[in-house]
Amino acid sequence: MPLVTTTEMFKKAYEGGYAIGAFNVNNMEIVQGITEACAETRSPVILQVSKGARAYANHTYLTKLVEAAVIENPDIPIALHLDHGPDFETCKSCIDGGFTSVMIDGSSLPFDENVKLAKRVVEYAHDHGVVVEAELGTLAGIEDEVNVSAEASSYTRPEEVEEFVTRTGCDSLAIAIGTSHGAYKFKPGTKPQLRFDILKEVEKRLPGFPIVLHGSSSVPQEFVEMINAYGGAMPGAIGVPEEQLREAARMAVCKINIDSDLRLAMTGTIRKYFAEHPDHFDPRQYLKPARENIKAMVKHKLIDVLGCNGKA
Ligand code: G3H
Ligand code: 13P
Ligand code: ZN
Repeated sequence: MPLVTTTEMFKKAYEGGYAIGAFNVNNMEIVQGITEACAETRSPVILQVSKGARAYANHTYLTKLVEAAVIENPDIPIALHLDHGPDFETCKSCIDGGFTSVMIDGSSLPFDENVKLAKRVVEYAHDHGVVVEAELGTLAGIEDEVNVSAEASSYTRPEEVEEFVTRTGCDSLAIAIGTSHGAYKFKPGTKPQLRFDILKEVEKRLPGFPIVLHGSSSVPQEFVEMINAYGGAMPGAIGVPEEQLREAARMAVCKINIDSDLRLAMTGTIRKYFAEHPDHFDPRQYLKPARENIKAMVKHKLIDVLGCNGKA
């Protein structure tokens, strides 16, 4: 089937009490690892591309890689989404360039400016059959070149969500309930806890409306330990507990964003491979196990965290 929007995916996910995985793609091995896991578990999937990914790999390479994944995996619904669209022009370029979904991230703007920008993107996107994710609230952590400290982050205010969604016409809403971008989400020794009270309040005010969670990597300790054992230095990297994501997926959360976990799986595997095979220099040799470990990690997410296996 051709690329799809997220409309049908989210409707079924909301009703079925599961979430769709939105995985960031930057190169061929990542696209393959994710989509092979989805095809083998019959899971719908969102492949998302950030501004940084477009700068690294270029729009055409990325869209063609995703096009190849669509051809190779004809039985699973795949959406192509712009992650953290910084402005109208970037969203327009992706809408014109074949994406089926875009995020406009005006979360750092004052409320009225966020509304104005999101509404402009929604109007253009909807005219072209593309859906839009917007964001209210600010996550901590690093995304693109922006580093938001824990103090500067702010939870979504539930009393603002109805007005925001009504005025913008957005199709899904990313909210801040304690997740955070990157591999260092929580201080070692502290107990990570998402604010389910905020999620419940948002759900009550927007019944049936798809909610998105960014910064939802769980930072598998298996890969952190692998990185540290083979020359890396990532002390205190901690992520969101998977049980809490599973709980969010049973509620109004229909899209869960995962990027850092892919990076950790790839980097850990390659570091281990190099240490064990110091004489190897063929990229195919070390990228193959990296792709395999991405695939295994994504399968685990689809089955044990998102609950979207078998839903394609
Ligand atoms: O939230 C940000 C994503 O992890 C994308 O990261 O901007 O480094 O591609 P990136
Ligand atoms: P992580 O850094 O937790 O993987 O978050 C990814 C993300 O939110 C992409 O938009
Ligand atoms: Zn994000």
